[in-house]
Amino acid sequence: MTKPFVIAIDGPAASGKGTLAKKLATHYSLPHLDTGLTYRAIAYSMLEHNIDLTDEAAAVDFAEKLDFAQLDPELFASHTISEVASKVALLPRLRGILVSIQRQVAEKLPGAVLDGRDIGTVVCPSATVKLYIIADMETRARRRYDEIIAAGMTVSYNDVLADLKRRDERDMHRSSGPLKPAEDSYLLNTTKLNIEEMFEAASQLIDNERAKCSGFR
Ligand code: C5P
Repeated sequence: MTKPFVIAIDGPAASGKGTLAKKLATHYSLPHLDTGLTYRAIAYSMLEHNIDLTDEAAAVDFAEKLDFAQLDPELFASHTISEVASKVALLPRLRGILVSIQRQVAEKLPGAVLDGRDIGTVVCPSATVKLYIIADMETRARRRYDEIIAAGMTVSYNDVLADLKRRDERDMHRSSGPLKPAEDSYLLNTTKLNIEEMFEAASQLIDNERAKCSGFR
């Protein structure tokens, strides 16, 4: 029997989960879905059409028409989109639709690496391995600041820090799909780790977990 091999990665913004997810997907030859992009895409459409961010019917309509092939990380990278994405992410019906589309990616063989906020708890509660990635707030702010500057945009470190704090607050305290570790997740603190060290730690956990299960291709 074969079943999908699913790696669920959750954690707050700029914890290192996106970079780690990409590297793990390449290593295990699995597709990668950055679920944050699905919320960002809805945020982008709401802004483009000047729609009130509490208009759930409009958000749902965009989600139903969302083309996963069109998710463009560069187009959705701005500070404003991050902020708006975390506001539309409060809408429960919108979450329901995005979760079901995300789940379809995970259910296909050979499986997938998904990263987000609610992957281990809501999207893929029976994932093969669940990782919950954290890092100190200052480290996360510095990483995000460096990324934005490297991409040629301008921002102040204090704005980045304030944005992360606001988003954590919203993501952790919403009623639908809040950011929290699944009970059976492995906690990985990346504050003092570079990407190679993160990858080493994560792949060891994954290989150990995979060795306990059978049925993967
Ligand atoms: O991961 P990223 O920073 O791109 O996500 C943008 C926003 O989308 C997050 O702050 C969060 O509010 C929302 N999100 C979510 N659930 C996910 C992924 C992202 O609520 N699985």
